[in-house]
Amino acid sequence: MTDTWNEYAKGRDENPTVRLYADHAFASLVSTTDIRSSDWTSKRVLDFGCGTGSLAQNVAPFVGELIAVDTSEKMIAVLESKHIPNVIAVHGDILAPDQPCKVDLQSGFDLIYASSVCGFLPDYEGAVLALAGLLRSGGRFVQWDWQASDGDEFGLSEDQIQNALQKAKFESIRVERAFSMETDGQILPVLIGTGIA
Ligand SMILES: C[S@@+](CC[C@H](N)C(=O)[O-])C[C@H]1O[C@@H](n2cnc3c(N)ncnc32)[C@H](O)[C@@H]1O
Repeated sequence: MTDTWNEYAKGRDENPTVRLYADHAFASLVSTTDIRSSDWTSKRVLDFGCGTGSLAQNVAPFVGELIAVDTSEKMIAVLESKHIPNVIAVHGDILAPDQPCKVDLQSGFDLIYASSVCGFLPDYEGAVLALAGLLRSGGRFVQWDWQASDGDEFGLSEDQIQNALQKAKFESIRVERAFSMETDGQILPVLIGTGIA
């Protein structure tokens, strides 16, 4: 399988913006969940679009099992090389009905998160709907995305996230500014969207 994201895998972990984004995302996860409590040591988590696992590295020490999936084989190869004990790195598209799925989806997940992924998906709303169906009762979906401004080609607006989470029929929905990043002299805001099944 070829994937345009492959070319971004090499050297990605040395990019300070990638590390900072993951650290900020993890801090916002900590402030909105009790993920560092002992309750989470038995939880099953899905990192959708994990890349090289920058955020998985932060989350893994606190959870039982972390399944990290990505359609880029080179991203997955970097994550595998890190040998994080409770992380299972899987190359493939778990949402593609025509592909054999290498992940046990039937057992469900307590947390599914997507860090800087949803804004790049061709069918964002469809993906959220499908991911919502993989959550255990009371499970949580969390996404972080660059906040889109008028005319932007990438990113998502608060309304887009709100609508997608509503269509996925989450019971409790929250969309807000999580943090901002400075790149090339520009301040770029990042939104966090959360839905509870
Ligand atoms: C901007 S990168 C973010 C990577 C990582 N989550 C992070 O925060 O560093 C977007 C990632 O989403 C992955 N991706 C895109 N579409 C996907 C899909 N349908 N299923 C799984 N991963 C996908 C890409 O291969 C890429 O690694």
